Amino acid sequence: MSAGRPFPAGFLFGAATSAHQVEGGNVNSNWWHWEREGGRVRDGGVSGIACDHYRRFDDDFRLAAELGHNAHRCSVEWARIEPEEGRFDERALDHYRAVCDSIHRHGMRATVTLHHFTHPMWVARAGGWENPKIVDWLARYAERVGRALGGRVDVWWTINEPMVAPVVAYVLGLHPPAVKDPARALVVARHTLLAHGAMYGALKAVVPSTVPVGIVHNMIRVEPFDPASEADRDAARAQDRFLNQWYLDGITTGRVGAPVGRDEEVPGLAGSFDVFGINYYFRSLVRSDAMPDFSTHVRRPGERPEFTDEMGWEVHPPGLGHLLRRLKALAKPVYVTENGHATLDEAARTRHLWAHLHQVLDAVADGVDVRGFFYWSLIDNFEWAEGWTRHFGLVAMEPGTLARRPRPAATWYRDVIRANAVPISRPA
Ligand code: FCB
Repeated sequence: MSAGRPFPAGFLFGAATSAHQVEGGNVNSNWWHWEREGGRVRDGGVSGIACDHYRRFDDDFRLAAELGHNAHRCSVEWARIEPEEGRFDERALDHYRAVCDSIHRHGMRATVTLHHFTHPMWVARAGGWENPKIVDWLARYAERVGRALGGRVDVWWTINEPMVAPVVAYVLGLHPPAVKDPARALVVARHTLLAHGAMYGALKAVVPSTVPVGIVHNMIRVEPFDPASEADRDAARAQDRFLNQWYLDGITTGRVGAPVGRDEEVPGLAGSFDVFGINYYFRSLVRSDAMPDFSTHVRRPGERPEFTDEMGWEVHPPGLGHLLRRLKALAKPVYVTENGHATLDEAARTRHLWAHLHQVLDAVADGVDVRGFFYWSLIDNFEWAEGWTRHFGLVAMEPGTLARRPRPAATWYRDVIRANAVPISRPA
């Protein structure tokens, strides 16, 4: 590997997964039932046995360790742990104890998300994110899991991407329950914020005080399509406020701001994070006269952006640097908890990694306390409404046999991790 640009000592490198997408057999979850309705998932895909990670986790973590990873981000599945209201399944908790122990045995840190998109069916039947009781339900769940896994977890994440339910499930109607109603989306957004605050408090009461708890927020780099147009600038500001900023303000100030609330204060919410996770995938160029659509190859005249061939998302590494610098104001450690590229073109995946890792280092040079980077994903998996048609994995999985095959980008990433440095020159 050519001369490299170093990362801070102790930097965490790894990959991220989520329970439903890799484990298989998540029969008590709302997604399991949703996939079977038909017409919901591209190509009629179902999660099914997924990557069979529920049984193969130890082999998968051995492979991650062989690929140099020193940390892993996974999630625990609410639908397994609390399959019926108030009934906690000790065997499921034992399973996740074994998962954390395996991650550690393979020399990695365990960072664990409590809620990654899926609900148990009893929650979905009761209205899911729309039911205000979900705040207490999630707090009780967080407390139980916190007690059960306690010191086995190195970093806790309460909720993955709290703005996905409001936007993707309740505005775009692509995730269950497929509603297209902005008023209901605002109710859902409020509950994701309140639930985070309650989960933070519940976890802090039971896990060792030195173990950090945070939130994983998907942030989009929002820019006006035409920077000279006041209307586009206003539209971009409004979109940025809803997608990115109001939630950040909420966990910082403890108030529910516009457009979701009227600045009301929520006890326990102010400062409810010790660390912050950002998932970053793309830029959105906003026009005042068009509905936002995040995968329609919008391009400004004269620009020649790259789009990921499978998702159609714009590859825009400077957006990550921009957002990381913005997070400096939080004055808390930051992790890039997801960033990835769905493709079968390994040169594109490797360049993507190279460019985004340089953005991380630029942000570190500007004083942002970035502590880790987790590529999405370790292995090809069930990509929600896109089913099995997307290839985000550092590791390919052969359909049928489920055999794992590390891709060239995984080896490139391994060399970065071993050197704790990213090459200066762009990979071919
Ligand atoms: C993120 C999700 C993750 C995966 C990637 C591609 O929004 O957190 O589960 O779907 O996108």
